[in-house]
Amino acid sequence: MATTQITPLTVNGILLHPSAVNVGDVLGFLRQHLEDKVVWDQSKYIWLLREVMGLRCQRYFEIGVHGGSSLAAAAYCASPVHMLAGIDTFKGSGKHGTRTRARTFSDLMDLNVHDHNIAVITGDAGDTSTAAKLIPRFAPCDMLYVDADKSQGFVAKIWSMYSPHISLGGLAMFNDYAIYKGDGVRKFFDRLGVPSDFHCVGVVGRMIIFQRVQDA
Ligand SMILES: C[S@@+](CC[C@H](N)C(=O)[O-])C[C@H]1O[C@@H](n2cnc3c(N)ncnc32)[C@H](O)[C@@H]1O
Repeated sequence: MATTQITPLTVNGILLHPSAVNVGDVLGFLRQHLEDKVVWDQSKYIWLLREVMGLRCQRYFEIGVHGGSSLAAAAYCASPVHMLAGIDTFKGSGKHGTRTRARTFSDLMDLNVHDHNIAVITGDAGDTSTAAKLIPRFAPCDMLYVDADKSQGFVAKIWSMYSPHISLGGLAMFNDYAIYKGDGVRKFFDRLGVPSDFHCVGVVGRMIIFQRVQDA
């Protein structure tokens, strides 16, 4: 597990969540009290972080939707969201098998108990033509979750294409940083360091989380 750095969810001294909860505190609590005892998959973290962000998160983007469990977790939050949007090639994912967009979208609609707007786009998230279906319509986003190709080249491409479209105070979450098969994710971020306009909130589970603290 990588060393973690906890920072409060504030921008220019302003606490972003009205209930005065901050992401750093929540992650610190989880690490201290729960991680050894509970099997947490990433969807639960997404749900929790989405709740912590509360009204601050109105647009959630996901790259690597597959069966939709993390997108459904984000959509399960009752706080108002204007839009949740995900991209997947729907060409399959090794051990997870293939899912069609139609099946995933139908499951997401069944689980969308709060009637949020959900868009699921088919395509390679690293292609500018796919990004063009998402960014001009829905950016900036307040939470970006990336759980797709774990190669260093792909992560680099996604960071350069999508991180400029994260809002001030918004989170970038990359899965499989803290796992052997996520070598590319770890290599990319360890080489990059913490970008000057982001804080590293920490690593929780397998996911590394950054928060934008300066405009792009
Ligand atoms: C581990 S699964 C995602 C699991 C999902 N987050 C969930 O909670 O169910 C990885 C997904 O990334 C997708 N993927 C891989 N490369 C991609 C790319 N270049 N663009 C978009 N999606 C991609 C795969 O099709 C696969 O469905």
